[in-house]
Amino acid sequence: MSKIIVTGGCGYIGSHTCIALLAQGHEVVVFDDLSNATKESIDRIEKIAGKRPELCIVDLKNKNATSAAFEAHKEALAVIHFAAYKAVKESVDHPLQYYENNFFSLINTLTAQQKLGINNFIFSSSATVYGMPETCPVTEKSPVSTPFSPYGNTKKIAEEILKDHTAANLDFSVISLRYFNPIGAHESGEIGELPNGIPNNLMPYITQTAAGIREKLMVFGNDYPTKDGTAIRDYIHVMDLAEAHVVAVNRLVDQKQEQNFEIYNLGTGTGYSVLEVITAFETQNNLSINYEITARRDGDVPVVFASTELASKKLGWTAKRDLNSMVKSAWNWEKNYRKND
Ligand code: UD1
Repeated sequence: MSKIIVTGGCGYIGSHTCIALLAQGHEVVVFDDLSNATKESIDRIEKIAGKRPELCIVDLKNKNATSAAFEAHKEALAVIHFAAYKAVKESVDHPLQYYENNFFSLINTLTAQQKLGINNFIFSSSATVYGMPETCPVTEKSPVSTPFSPYGNTKKIAEEILKDHTAANLDFSVISLRYFNPIGAHESGEIGELPNGIPNNLMPYITQTAAGIREKLMVFGNDYPTKDGTAIRDYIHVMDLAEAHVVAVNRLVDQKQEQNFEIYNLGTGTGYSVLEVITAFETQNNLSINYEITARRDGDVPVVFASTELASKKLGWTAKRDLNSMVKSAWNWEKNYRKND
């Protein structure tokens, strides 16, 4: 059994990944400052997985605290690093907070790992690094361009830091996973996405509208050059994403990597329009969503979907769950969470 440290393990993707790791027999230690999640996640993970991850409450921006937390778990074989701020709009309003949090925590984590010889690292990256892709599907060789937000820029620059770090330290290995649009929740409905305040992203906005918390969903633009005029994205079930992290971490722990810095897209390879997502949600959950078409949102790209070839060939991983399963599980989580309101 190998011990894996999951930073940000109380959050949305982190908590689902803890479940997938525990299901594969790994021992999990969560490092989280609880700035955007609660300790309850650990109880919920235990309820689903039947095993409890250890929680270490630590501010990874603090170098000494990070070093001490790692020292207490120096037998760990790998780190999966989710701990970061991730709200696009907030990053535009408060760029320094984003650069401070996302970089200090990354650098302190890498430094602590280096000191202890914990040589495997999975990074939580984003398709946002492609900016406005010229062609789809987007492959890992598609040019990285300037992302539209400080949040996106932290992902791009973090990958550059990791590239330099791995070039200088050949015994240190990194897999950077570029997520397309993660949605949905664990089938139990015990854990799921819980954004702070008004959601920016489509799926939590839809589920909160269905739950009556938001009055109306605004569909941003129906004049894109797509089949129904609304923008197209590659939505991926969060449990598929979680399982990809387990495959990636095993690849490093088993020393199966071909290079010490590898990058993979995580998507399904299929794009759906905003209206298709709404329709699937309505049909699968037998309800109707109050929505209105409005102007395009600044910075939105018309069409983005992934090439899944590299992940399939090298990691042996492909997404298994379809859009229906994504929209059903998203609603199941929201309903379950709100049932005592
Ligand atoms: C966004 C971020 C991206 C980030 C990702 C994290 C932007 C421009 N991009 O991706 O950097 O990595 O979230 O999950 O913010 N939509 C509506 N109404 C809404 C919300 C969204 O019509 O209320 C539409 C959007 O215009 C878009 C699609 O739904 O076409 C998906 O939007 P969203 O969930 O915010 O994801 P992205 O914009 O793709």
